[in-house]
Amino acid sequence: MLSLEQILQRIESEIARLQYIREPQSLYDPIKYILSLGGKRIRPALALIACNIYSESIESAIKPALGLEVFHNFTLLHDDLMDNADKRRGKPTAHKVWNANSAILSGDAMLILAYKLIEETESQKLKEILNIFSQTSLEICEGQQYDMEFESRLDVSEAEYLEMIRLKTAVLLACSLKTGAILGGAPENDANHLYEFGINIGLMFQLKDDLLDVYGNTNSFGKNIGGDIACNKKTFLLINALRLANKEQSHILNEWLNKKEYDTAEKIAVISQIYDELNLKHLTEKKMEKYYQTAFLHLDKLNVTHEKTELLQSVCNQLIYRNV
Ligand code: IPE
Ligand code: IPE
Ligand code: MG
Ligand code: MG
Ligand code: MG
Repeated sequence: MLSLEQILQRIESEIARLQYIREPQSLYDPIKYILSLGGKRIRPALALIACNIYSESIESAIKPALGLEVFHNFTLLHDDLMDNADKRRGKPTAHKVWNANSAILSGDAMLILAYKLIEETESQKLKEILNIFSQTSLEICEGQQYDMEFESRLDVSEAEYLEMIRLKTAVLLACSLKTGAILGGAPENDANHLYEFGINIGLMFQLKDDLLDVYGNTNSFGKNIGGDIACNKKTFLLINALRLANKEQSHILNEWLNKKEYDTAEKIAVISQIYDELNLKHLTEKKMEKYYQTAFLHLDKLNVTHEKTELLQSVCNQLIYRNV
């Protein structure tokens, strides 16, 4: 089996080889920009690792895995515009370097380029792979729509939040694993357990992203800290702050969430302090732990030897302890 380093190296060299020689350059520049900024490449890595569990050769999964990364980067171009984010992977976001229209149109082109890569799947499996991919893409749009709508609501429940993050984030990790598994020749039952493993690590992954948005370090995380607080995102932390706040904290929270004009740094400081008082970092980590455990139950159900799943286990550990 390949090591994680070998898999990541392969992904980087394949991404570097993607050619955008068509005109106009101004359409392709933002695409080259976002793809060249790096990132964890977790989705193609999961696809290739899953493929490698069932097949010594990972060649059949290379193009679809790249398609999944291009697709993910497309969602980032649009997400940063929707979230009004200035920074991505330590650099200015595409709509800041160019403009909103560029981020929209280059994003659209990336979605199509992602399909073109996935299209290169072997023909007997193409329909199944396209089907999972299209279903997943639609779910991500649904999740992103809930994410935006929740900004202006104060009564979002934990269950609604969990469904929203399942849609906007978890399904793509799950889809990557299932795609790789199918292309490696996994039995259907294993492919489905890998999908469920992906949902659980995906939920854990978004909870960690919410945590890092408050407690991370801009230099390592690559995004501005407090972005979620600034736009009233209903993160796991904010939902639980609203639920657990005492009278005084509740008053402060509501006041800041309803303010139209304010100093952003002050808002972030006030709300983070309430998170600290309520020990919400710990509560979030407990929730992550729960999904981590459930994810492992699905790995145990795979019809392969334990050593075949070691790399997935170690990736899972890296994701839970990550700072990026
Ligand atoms: C960011 O994804 C969007 C979320 C789903 C939280 P990643 O954290 O995987 O971003 P990169 O690709 O590593 O930069
Ligand atoms: C991102 O959620 C989900 C998608 C991009 C589909 P976030 O908005 O939390 O991601 P970041 O924090 O900007 O990376
Ligand atoms: Mg965002
Ligand atoms: Mg977002
Ligand atoms: Mg985030």
